[in-house]
Amino acid sequence: VSARTSGTKRTAPVVFAHRGASAYAPENTLAAVDKADALGFDWVENDVQFTKDGVLVVVHDTDLKRTTDAEEVFPDRAPWAVKDFTAAEIARLDAGSWFGPEFAGTRVPTLKQYLDRIERNRQKLLLEIKSPEIYPGIEKETLRVLRQKGWLDRSHVRNRLVVQSFGADSVKKVHQLRPDVTTGFLGTPSVADLPSYAAFTDQINPSYTSVSADYVDAVHALKGAHGKKLRVNTWTVNDAATAAKVAGLGVDGIITNNPDVVREATR
Ligand code: G3P
Ligand code: CA
Repeated sequence: VSARTSGTKRTAPVVFAHRGASAYAPENTLAAVDKADALGFDWVENDVQFTKDGVLVVVHDTDLKRTTDAEEVFPDRAPWAVKDFTAAEIARLDAGSWFGPEFAGTRVPTLKQYLDRIERNRQKLLLEIKSPEIYPGIEKETLRVLRQKGWLDRSHVRNRLVVQSFGADSVKKVHQLRPDVTTGFLGTPSVADLPSYAAFTDQINPSYTSVSADYVDAVHALKGAHGKKLRVNTWTVNDAATAAKVAGLGVDGIITNNPDVVREATR
């Protein structure tokens, strides 16, 4: 990460609460989005995957071991892949105790439950389609649920929703199915390849370890799929020094487990 030398005043980057305010509450749960809300953050990031019976659930890892008690509740179901469990089975799991006893009984939310909560909180969603290669049809179902919950109406689409993925084909598919939805590609395409990404995405969202001021400039020189400046949101920046450095590169947004720390360091 090499900092700029220019003294021009920049707008503070948008701060995204990564998996909710996940330094303070169990990631990808309603408790984590409520914590982000309590800290004053509207943008939350989450990860969605399919259950065995085709329900979208909010969880990061493709197995349930790290963030739930699946091994205890279902001892004979190794390797505890999300895709091998029904929504009803996942609803029985405790997704909070691993983080702290005060979160015992916290559940893995379905995408519908999650959308209801962030709607109630008036929050905004950076939704990641996780591991799309193992979930055929996940883009269509994600859009169906978003639509059913009112998240594809004009005001949500314009102001409160971005759909992103590490899978370029997945992002492309979302763009084709709903060209009005803002999309993001997770990764760091080469500068030469950026124009081909700009055809179907509005944001290039790279790891902060792979970003330089020149790279941010190269992204900003292009227009995204909706004709606006292609944006850069970088992840996952959890300490003040790195946040200040990364903000100095001119990124548009920072995705962080510690939104309060990043806001303080970049305002
Ligand atoms: O939103 C960026 C970030 O979430 C990508 O990495 O592994 O945390 O989903 P990961
Ligand atoms: Ca994610």
